[in-house]
Amino acid sequence: MSEHSANPSPAAAGRSRAVKAVIPAAGLATRFLPATKAVPKELLPVVDRPVLQYIVEEATQAGIEDVLLITGRGKTSMVDHFDRRPDLEARLEAKGDAERLEAVRRPSELAEIYTCRQPEQLGLGHAVGYAESHVGDQPFAVLLGDEFVKPSEPLLPAMLELQARTGGVVLAFFEVDPAETKRYGIASVEPAEAELTDVGEVVKVTGMVEKPKPEDAPSNLAVLGRYVLPGRIFDAIRRTEPGSGGEIQLTDAMELLRTEGVPVHAIVYRGTRYDTGMPLGYLQTVVQIAAERDDLGAEFRAWLGEFVKADASVGSNT
Ligand code: G1P
Repeated sequence: MSEHSANPSPAAAGRSRAVKAVIPAAGLATRFLPATKAVPKELLPVVDRPVLQYIVEEATQAGIEDVLLITGRGKTSMVDHFDRRPDLEARLEAKGDAERLEAVRRPSELAEIYTCRQPEQLGLGHAVGYAESHVGDQPFAVLLGDEFVKPSEPLLPAMLELQARTGGVVLAFFEVDPAETKRYGIASVEPAEAELTDVGEVVKVTGMVEKPKPEDAPSNLAVLGRYVLPGRIFDAIRRTEPGSGGEIQLTDAMELLRTEGVPVHAIVYRGTRYDTGMPLGYLQTVVQIAAERDDLGAEFRAWLGEFVKADASVGSNT
């Protein structure tokens, strides 16, 4: 008997792991104006790579090789980033700059990138709905482009495994300050079935609500911007009425599936996540990545230590 016999493998259950990812990236990024007036927020650099490249790398590191970007007006440069640049490559090749040549080529070699356009921004559920013709009835991952998960503490592999076992909706939660529930989808939960708990800190979802006021929030467990969804979500999105903010919410479509008997589970994530869609979270991400870089981390950390010390002594004199 195999040591995994208690956990039916996806193959045994007749299910396969999601192999495609969808990245909704059509938003207007009002929280980062004026930087995002002409530059998509997904292209803001974290050290020397755009935020979006980290998100695509996160998907490919979890074994996904097919990525659909849902784009909108003014976002063409985002797609260009994942295209080849033969003119630039020829120049770098002629100069013998192998390192930069590899950096310029890398985005175009990460995955098969597809795009489609969301003509109007009517909500996250509405955006995900545009992926239907690309994804079909197979399970797929959704990664929100303005949420950064530390690469050394990945979340997606366990979520993909869990979804292949349950066939349902798989979310990730993180704990928020109760005063902040109105910024997120919030869930009520109960313990998960014992055979699922080897994947991580797994909980079973018993209800979800988008952006509740603190007094109405069922918990402080917030939906993180990573999802693995079954193809049935598209039908649920079509049947979802506008909700919070007058938008078609993915949370509401998932809740609809749950009330119809589709299992919804989540992994409680205790790793590091930042919201790169606003200035503070963006700065935290840049500092985190810069401090860990092999090429400039040591120098940057030394400078940062001095900066913080000097700043603290200025603070204590005032
Ligand atoms: C979206 C989702 C929300 C989730 C959040 C995570 O909200 O609707 O449920 O908690 O992402 O970042 P948005 O940030 O688009 O308002």
